[in-house]
Amino acid sequence: MFGHVWRWAGHFRQTDKNIGGPWHQIPMNLKNLCDDARMWMELHEEAPDELAVRFHHRLVSIHPFPNGNGRHARLMTDLLLENILKRPRFTWGSEDLSRVGNARHRYIASLHAADVQNYGPLLEFVRT
Ligand SMILES: Nc1ncnc2c1ncn2[C@@H]1O[C@H](COP(=O)(O)OP(=O)(O)OP(=O)(O)O)[C@@H](O)[C@H]1O
Ligand SMILES: [Mg+2]
Repeated sequence: MFGHVWRWAGHFRQTDKNIGGPWHQIPMNLKNLCDDARMWMELHEEAPDELAVRFHHRLVSIHPFPNGNGRHARLMTDLLLENILKRPRFTWGSEDLSRVGNARHRYIASLHAADVQNYGPLLEFVRT
């Protein structure tokens, strides 16, 4: 998605950041996330929105790329919703999240809540 923006687009990061685990674990962490998501869908234990929110949070937390992780993970989550879960995509606060503002603030705060297993704020935010 960033092929015309960054030369490294599509390649995982090769340095550690203050978010996400060690860079060499990215492929394994992504494989585990996809396996888990498939299992969540087969078990039908969670509502589709909750499943998608958990997927989004795990994906941004793995932080596969040097930049663009938020935008990539929001697109992936919307594709999961529309193509697999057959639900409308999220509205993500209905504002430009790349600008510092109220929606951006709520988005980051709700990710912090999800860091400690509280998915409520993110669940509400994505349909605002
Ligand atoms: N505490 C957190 N837990 C999980 N994910 C987080 C946390 N804080 C920030 N993030 C995610 O990291 C993203 C920022 O990473 P990056 O700069 O790679 O992505 P981006 O698409 O360029 O983001 P943006 O344009 O929103 O700054 C945020 O948009 C958010 O999705
Ligand atoms: Mg960025």
